Formats: sequence, C-alpha cells, structure tokens
Amino acid sequence: MALAIRVHEQPLDPEQAALREEVLAGFAATPKALSPKFFYDHAGSQLFELICRQPEYYPTRTEETILRLAASDIAALAGRNASLVELGSGASRKVRLLLEALRPTRYLGIDISREFLHASTRRLAADYRWLDVHALCADFSQPMKLPAEAMGERPLAFFPGSSIGNFDPQQARAFLRNLRQALPTGSGLLIGVDLVKNREVLERAYNDEAGVTALFNLNLLERIRRELDSDIDPSRFQHRAFYNEAESRIEMHLVSPKAQQVRIEDRVFDFAAGETLHTENSYKYTPSRFLKLAADCGFAPVSMWRDPAALFSVHFLRSE
Ligand code: AVJ
Repeated sequence: MALAIRVHEQPLDPEQAALREEVLAGFAATPKALSPKFFYDHAGSQLFELICRQPEYYPTRTEETILRLAASDIAALAGRNASLVELGSGASRKVRLLLEALRPTRYLGIDISREFLHASTRRLAADYRWLDVHALCADFSQPMKLPAEAMGERPLAFFPGSSIGNFDPQQARAFLRNLRQALPTGSGLLIGVDLVKNREVLERAYNDEAGVTALFNLNLLERIRRELDSDIDPSRFQHRAFYNEAESRIEMHLVSPKAQQVRIEDRVFDFAAGETLHTENSYKYTPSRFLKLAADCGFAPVSMWRDPAALFSVHFLRSE
C-alpha cells in the first residue's frame, strides 16, 4: 500500500458549520449550555491528548490495558479482511493496539477535527504500509453516510474512550440507531464504556492536579474569542466538574464568579454571579444499563471485558 491516505469529504464542513449558530443559541438558553463537540479544535484536541496522560484520568490507560489483553479475542470475533471504522479517532493511538492483532484490510478514521485527523491517519499509513487508510472529517452526532469504498464487506466499528458518554440517553439511542443504519447486518461494534463508580475517583479524573482539564474546558472560550467576533475573557471564568449521581454523569461547567456581560457577534449576554455555562456531560453506565441501550438500537451483546477494579468496560456487539 501507498503512504497516501484517501480523504473523503462531506458537503458541510463540520468544523465550521455550527459554531456561530450553536454558540449564540447556547448562550441565549436557560441554563446556558454548549455541545462538548466544540472542545475539539486543534488546541482542544491536543489538550485532550494531554488529559489522557494525567494520572487521575483512568479511562484511557484502563481501556488500553483491556484492549491489549483482549486483542486476540477481538481479532477472532472480527474475522479476516475486516475494515476497521474508528469514530472520533483523535490521535489514533488505541487503534494501533488492534491493527497488529486484527490485520484488517482497511482503516477509516472519522473525526470532527480535520487537521488532527489527517495528521494521525497519515502517520498510520506510514507505520502500517499494508493498510488501506481512509479519513473522513465528520460530526458523527449527526446522521451519517459512510463511504462504501472505505467500509468493505466486514466493517468493525470502533468507538473507544467512552465517547458515548457525551450523549444523553436519548442522543445515545439516536446515535446508535444511526450507526446501526450505516452498517450492514452482522457488523461488529467494539465500544468503550466508562462505568459507574465512587464519586471520589470520578471527580478526581475531571479535576486533575495539573489543571489540564481546566485548560481544556476554558479553551472553549478561547476558541469563541479566536473564531467569532467576541470580547469574552476566559480569565473571568472558572472550571467546575462534579458527579451528578441522580443522572449518573459527570458535569463540566464554566462558572462566572462575578456578574458580567459578554458580547458575541452583535449580541450581549448577561451572566449573574455564580451562573454557569454547561459544557459537557459524561454519562457513566452499568454494564446491564449499557447493554439494554445497545439492544434497543439493534446491537446484540457478544463479549465484554473489564479491568479487575471494574473501572471501565469494552463491549463487542453485533448488529442484527
Ligand atoms: C472523550 C467524552 C470520553 O468524557 O471523559 C475528558 C472527555 N472531558 N475530560 C470524557 C473529557 C474532560 C471524555 N470523552
């Protein structure tokens, strides 16, 4: 195979399309809120990679350990000549654990951050010369059409990192149903799901000592300042993350400690002292709750792996 990657384009550029409209609508809403997909500009994608290396952030290293141990089982379930389709591929580190074991024919990386996606898929093409590498810059929270020539006959969708946790239960259903529609019957889905656990471990993971998660959260405001016409001052906001046990989710917010006005384009928004902009939910599941959700969307359970401390789970499901 060549070093080149095949780049697939979508009619709407997902990096640009919705930012202005969604920021204006999100700041006008009560309570104020923004979709976490806007975290991932180039700086945000880099900060996220740094989060993954913080000692408190257990999901990444735990999932990597699970994948390393389960790789040969996963390869047997995936079969020969699979096409690996990675959703939210980011730096494409985890998939390397699978490529050697699976030896798929094709790899399709899908991510909302174009520059990041192209750089990481190019690195994969250079490191795995036998692999046919494709890249698709897309917002997979929207209904998707996957390029047929990048899917082959035996697609295995890979959705690592517990990114499913960013969707609320209704959005998660919509996402899994979209994915089910985009895949032929009998396709595998390998998905990482973070598990419900005690509050301290969860809250520490989103409040790392080094303050990287805070920078990641505040980068959303930097991005608004860079890409939109706005006087927003990130130094007037603070990172807050806590576990909402009733909803089984970590919530991230940006707090305005003092009352202030923020101008974005031709609109002015008031923040009361202590008011927050809700920037992210990260839902935590029990295995049975997740499997119920998946079954409702046409994915039957095949196998599940967990670390000994049951921090994190990886599921192999099949579309039916
Ligand atoms: C990429 C959505 C899985 O929810 O843990 C990490 C994002 N936010 N630290 C997560 C995130 C703050 C991450 N996901």
